[in-house]
Amino acid sequence: MSNFSDQVAIVTGASRGIGKSITETLAKSGAHVYLLSRSQNAVSAVSEDLNSQGWSTKARACDVSDFDQVQSVFKSIAEEAGGIHILVNNAGVTRDTLLLRMTEADWDFVLDINLKGAFNGIKAVVRPMMKNRFGRIINISSVVGLTGNAGQINYAASKSGLLGLTKSTARELASRNITVNCIAPGYIETDMTGSLAPEAKENLIKQIPLGRIGTGSDIAELVRFLAGDQAGYITGQTFAVDGGMTMI
Ligand SMILES: NC(=O)c1ccc[n+]([C@@H]2O[C@H](COP(=O)([O-])OP(=O)(O)OC[C@H]3O[C@@H](n4cnc5c(N)ncnc54)[C@H](OP(=O)(O)O)[C@@H]3O)[C@@H](O)[C@H]2O)c1
Repeated sequence: MSNFSDQVAIVTGASRGIGKSITETLAKSGAHVYLLSRSQNAVSAVSEDLNSQGWSTKARACDVSDFDQVQSVFKSIAEEAGGIHILVNNAGVTRDTLLLRMTEADWDFVLDINLKGAFNGIKAVVRPMMKNRFGRIINISSVVGLTGNAGQINYAASKSGLLGLTKSTARELASRNITVNCIAPGYIETDMTGSLAPEAKENLIKQIPLGRIGTGSDIAELVRFLAGDQAGYITGQTFAVDGGMTMI
């Protein structure tokens, strides 16, 4: 298994859900992890808990949709930590409604966080990663980005956009030993999906060949692999972690 003890990771959207699981997994594998979310209190609580168990983490408030803020927060992390080796662009939101009812604000809000947020993070890590001639960038998309979904045109567009961003960035950065990959989770039990009615949940489980809802850890284990030494020959790929829902 990879040893991340000399590596600095940034995980966006680390205060809860999938990002929290990714943070725990990387920290417990020895990485020095910076947790980012809009709420300083929320990321600080997760960070303090991990540090009390002996792991090395720090928390920063950062809105990934704000280009200047991302550049400045990431710059201060790179200076403080002496580099950035791993970036997990996980922060994401939904604002679901049918096309006919969707407002421009609904569209902009979701695209600005889910897609532009990943661009903002990648822009901020490229120079430190190029300097180290090493980097691992992992973008968290969604199966909805592969299949589309009624009522989620903004979310689906943002998540499909991440696939193109991943492949193009992977091609640009491969010669610098920076890999860029994408994970497309299926239905994962988190706050984002917690509001589903029990009946809707049961119907959903019927569409999952493996017969269960996923966990944050199902995603985090793949992040750990893609961030590690053994994944050095994998770039520009999208991996569905969805209990077999898509199989495309
Ligand atoms: N859960 C699923 O079934 C599922 C399936 C497919 C894909 N995904 C994707 O997986 C990722 C995580 O989902 P989740 O279910 O864990 O979501 P979640 O429980 O709602 O957590 C979202 C995280 O993103 C942060 N965040 C939101 N807007 C942000 C912003 N502008 N800047 C920085 N941080 C921001 C939130 O913290 P603050 O509110 O404090 O900012 C929180 O830490 C998302 O990209 C989501 O689209 C989830």
